[in-house]
Amino acid sequence: MTLDAIDRVAVLGAGNMGHGITEVVALAGYDVTMRDIKEEFVEDGYEDIEWSLEKLAEKGRIDEAPAEILDRIDTTTDLEEATEDADLVIEAAPEEMDIKHDIFSDLDEMTHDDAILASNTSSLPITEIAEATDRPERVVGMHFFNPPVKMDLVEVIYGQETSDETAETTYEFVESIDKTPIYVRKDVRGFVVNSVLGPFGDEAGWMVSNDEATIRETDATMVHERGYPMGPFELGDLTGIDIGYHVRKEAGQPVPPIVEEKVEAEELGQKTGKGYYDYEDGDGA
Ligand code: 3HC
Repeated sequence: MTLDAIDRVAVLGAGNMGHGITEVVALAGYDVTMRDIKEEFVEDGYEDIEWSLEKLAEKGRIDEAPAEILDRIDTTTDLEEATEDADLVIEAAPEEMDIKHDIFSDLDEMTHDDAILASNTSSLPITEIAEATDRPERVVGMHFFNPPVKMDLVEVIYGQETSDETAETTYEFVESIDKTPIYVRKDVRGFVVNSVLGPFGDEAGWMVSNDEATIRETDATMVHERGYPMGPFELGDLTGIDIGYHVRKEAGQPVPPIVEEKVEAEELGQKTGKGYYDYEDGDGA
């Protein structure tokens, strides 16, 4: 499939990444359906898109009125309805291989034969996700960064069987939504960015768990002495503490106790109002 043939996009998942990806795809002029498993998830994601578009409009960052962009977004909880006419599906579901396999095997049945099936997985192997389908050549990684509206980079990841045509069309699609793609030709856990970012979070997690530094000291050092836009704990709160947790678990890596405690307490970051910092009753990061 070539870029010209992509008219309709489906995004699976209305969480942080799903609704952000839906927004950037609609901003670029594509018709897009956002699907999640529960109506309340879809509604929350849609409200976040409305909020974000209003912010962009207030700051003069978009040429169209938010309502016109929202007109290009449909929502549903029905997987078949979301994907039957889609030329490109971008899956942004939880980071568990069983869930990905269920979705990709359904997609293989429901979508037309030429449709590209992309996964926004943070670090699960594309090759293994593609095994749930009879078209591994049309399965590709398309990894956005949080928040998708603000972050420029998108990794386009080859699984072992991904065809050049699929990867090239995906790369061109990323350019068409005004992002900067890079190819990742080795299907290793974490791809490029999370291979680098993993230790950034892990080292900080172990230091705080071992009482060598506090959360605030660690974040302040990285921001004020190292020039990062956010420290590792603030970033964990933004991306979701459970995301990094599942990535480490799926990779069989040890998880720093501070991370484990937060996940057990369901304090997952901004999305739950509390993580390493308190966003409801406190001042946030
Ligand atoms: N839509 C529209 N506006 C938004 C927004 C969104 N989604 N998110 C934030 N804004 C607004 C803010 O509300 C703020 O508005 P205000 O000035 O009226 O208060 C404005 O944008 C400016 O925001 P900030 O002043 O907080 O900060 P910056 O614009 O300077 O930068 C940032 C924000 C780009 C998020 C920057 O802090 C950053 O780069 N942080 C690191 C992010 C990062 O590393 N992401 C990758 C995570 S890893 C990942 O996603 C991989 C995955 O696999 C886990």
